[in-house]
Amino acid sequence: MTAPTRPSTIKASWEGLALIVGAGGIGSAIATQLAQRCPALQVLTCGRGGAPDQDLTLNVENDESLARFCEAVRQQARPLRLVFNCSGRLHGPGLQPEKRLQQVNRRQLEEQFSINAIAPLLLAKAIEPMLNRHEAFHFASLSARVGSISDNRSGGWYGYRAAKAAQNQLIRCLSIEWARRWPSATVTLFHPGTTDTALSKPFQSFVAPEQLFSPERAATQLVDLLLEQTPAQTGRFLAWDGQEIPW
Ligand SMILES: NC(=O)c1ccc[n+]([C@@H]2O[C@H](COP(=O)([O-])OP(=O)(O)OC[C@H]3O[C@@H](n4cnc5c(N)ncnc54)[C@H](OP(=O)(O)O)[C@@H]3O)[C@@H](O)[C@H]2O)c1
Repeated sequence: MTAPTRPSTIKASWEGLALIVGAGGIGSAIATQLAQRCPALQVLTCGRGGAPDQDLTLNVENDESLARFCEAVRQQARPLRLVFNCSGRLHGPGLQPEKRLQQVNRRQLEEQFSINAIAPLLLAKAIEPMLNRHEAFHFASLSARVGSISDNRSGGWYGYRAAKAAQNQLIRCLSIEWARRWPSATVTLFHPGTTDTALSKPFQSFVAPEQLFSPERAATQLVDLLLEQTPAQTGRFLAWDGQEIPW
């Protein structure tokens, strides 16, 4: 599904520095969108691959890498305007979403929590010293609808679901603290919709073609929503169509 249902007409005047962390399928498309739609924004992609694929090297699961990354961000001349966490993992070497209890194990649960829950919060902690109380700033992170506890009717995917639910709680706490300390900031959790990327590839046979977004379409929808966020709305968990998702 490639054509957006509501082509974006929003003109963006954002300036400063935008960091897209985890430039995979959705992250790369968001970086491209932002660069096109916000010409005064310097958009940098950040990930484990490093140059030439990414502008800055960052492993969000490693504290030393986060510290080196922050040093590199401080070298940039522009004020930090946006940090968008688009990293995450559903499967990988030695990691498969569980269908039943007997497939659950400690190492996989720890890996799911490391990337899908702990990493976004420690990313926020790492960049916080660069915030300015009087300058607009947006922190966004990709969660997933399957992280909604009240929406869980089919079970399975224990680790991924629980880690995304934990991310939601951690980032919700962050939004409450930052509303006091950084009143010009917004914090938003997004569900991108099922999107055709490496993350969803093994599971796409369960998805109707009209419900599978291209990364470009997912990015258009998410950037539309992102540009609308105001500090008064901070702390929400939003789906790609702007609907609030129950926790
Ligand atoms: N696609 C969907 O249908 C869907 C649906 C709901 C939610 N989401 C969420 O959307 C986000 C983006 O997913 P995607 O579909 O774009 O998947 P993707 O193409 O697999 O991208 C994930 C990105 O995360 C990066 N990453 C993983 N571990 C990292 C680490 N330790 N440090 C830095 N970067 C790391 C990966 O980089 P490496 O190449 O280094 O591994 C990759 O660039 C995820 O949080 C996912 O849970 C996706």
